[in-house]
Amino acid sequence: MSELSVNHLLGIKYITEKDIQLIFETADHFKEVIQRPIKKVPSLRDVTIANLFFENSTRTRLSFELAEKRLSADIVNFSAGSSSVKKGESLVDTVNNILSMKVDMVVMRHPNPGAGVFLSKHINASIINAGDGAHEHPTQALLDCYSIKERLGDVAGKKVVIVGDILHSRVALSNIFALQKLGATVKVCGPKTLMPRHIESLGVTYEPNLINALNWCDVANMLRVQNERMDISYFPSTREYTQQFGLNKSILDNLDKEIIVMHPGPINRGVEITSDVADSKQAIILDQVQNGLAVRMAILYLLASKIKRNDS
Ligand code: NCD
Repeated sequence: MSELSVNHLLGIKYITEKDIQLIFETADHFKEVIQRPIKKVPSLRDVTIANLFFENSTRTRLSFELAEKRLSADIVNFSAGSSSVKKGESLVDTVNNILSMKVDMVVMRHPNPGAGVFLSKHINASIINAGDGAHEHPTQALLDCYSIKERLGDVAGKKVVIVGDILHSRVALSNIFALQKLGATVKVCGPKTLMPRHIESLGVTYEPNLINALNWCDVANMLRVQNERMDISYFPSTREYTQQFGLNKSILDNLDKEIIVMHPGPINRGVEITSDVADSKQAIILDQVQNGLAVRMAILYLLASKIKRNDS
């Protein structure tokens, strides 16, 4: 039987193309399960999962929680705002306290890049990175690629442009890694000030003009400007950003071909995309959310099956 090459999902950087294909095949199965009248399966009975959210989250957190419930896991939830982290407790101490209650897996979102990697060296549980600062967001990239495959039949050979705040976006970095592992070509577009300095070293090209980028691509992934990660201003005004890099219906309708529009959420309607684009049939934003559930079930299932084998 196939299994993942890793015991944790810390980033797309650490997994192989084969791992991604296995996650997708497993997600296909769970996608069928969640359409059934009885959506719950006993696969993770006796597995205890802690959801540790040290940073705000709506859809990722709900998606993980629902995925765990559909797999019949026992879960405990923690959010930093209401915890002893505010009293000065260290990350390892907080997590070890939780783990002493015999937790098998940890799903963690944390503002510090590398928090998951750090934790994996200090605790004895399987860790899933649900976003570590501006570094990686592996489950988002996997659900994005899964959604592209579902809509276009394959990721290999497709042209994808990621538009917006590449500098502060963990979604961008994980998507670049995942898309390239699966054989897509990636361009990035947005204000020059929001591009990491050596972005080309990742094997992507920078296209400063939105219309050129859109006319080139099969898929446009429109990212939110991460204002919460900015201590200075990177462009003159939101209005100006929207004028140059916002996607509206008239731009979409006047392209040379029909493209797919993606967005990881939360959307700032009227900034990176207008409402009529977000709600158009070319947008697969809600498919992404639905696929997120199946993809996260697949990851939890595949990692949990490794824990059990390690125990025995
Ligand atoms: C993203 C995130 O938190 O990195 N959202 C998400 O997980 N769906 C993107 C964002 O916040 O813009």
